[in-house]
Amino acid sequence: MKILVANWKMAPSTPKAALALAKSTMAITKQTKKSLSVIACVPSVYLASVAVSAKSLVLGAQNVSTATDVASTGQISAAILKALKAEHCIIGHSESRATGETNELIREKLDRLVDQKITPILCVGERERDNQGWYLSGIKDQVESALSSIPKAALKRIMIAYEPVWAIGAKAEREATPVECREMVMYIRRLITDMFDEKTARSIPILYGGSVSEDNAAAFVTDGEASGLLVGRVSLDPKRFGKLATRISTI
Ligand code: 13P
Repeated sequence: MKILVANWKMAPSTPKAALALAKSTMAITKQTKKSLSVIACVPSVYLASVAVSAKSLVLGAQNVSTATDVASTGQISAAILKALKAEHCIIGHSESRATGETNELIREKLDRLVDQKITPILCVGERERDNQGWYLSGIKDQVESALSSIPKAALKRIMIAYEPVWAIGAKAEREATPVECREMVMYIRRLITDMFDEKTARSIPILYGGSVSEDNAAAFVTDGEASGLLVGRVSLDPKRFGKLATRISTI
């Protein structure tokens, strides 16, 4: 089963628009449910209302606090996300890392989510590439650090998203190629094999999280060998997201 994660980021800007988008996303989910698992990672403030209005939509959050003490003004804990019916949570997204999140902090976030039985969608990726492959050591640090204290039993409940930062957003340098994606999927599986074992490495879904469109998305799953996609802007446009979902579901 392929996986499609919608990352709504900081949108839509009103609760009304969020509910409309949730309902359209749920309709897409229903059409493709036999071959595609769709997860909507929505701004946390919308989780409760979306859970009521779009009941069958599988929900995720976009970040979590490491704090467990209630004296943590402005933070949202894994326990709160769980109570709001978030089954997944993105951590380590490049846009969150850009605010100063360290590998150590992301490991703590992963541990908090695992404690609450929420599936972490761990994002890893390099800001830029060099011809010698030095960027691989940054990915290695991100993967090894995040998974350094995970209990073996929880490994079946994580996902990894490879997001080349240079291929994300409106200001992306260029699109990544499916071959570049495949190399990284293989590299990340190799790292997990070295940390745990081959069976574990094969079982963890590795998504592609760079920018995709309805036209190029399928190639990241076929030639790129990603287990699915983590989609940003296109997930906010039901027409385009629907097309993309249909294409992935028919691979
Ligand atoms: P865009 O699709 O908006 O470039 O974002 C990709 C991304 O960051 C997915 O999490």
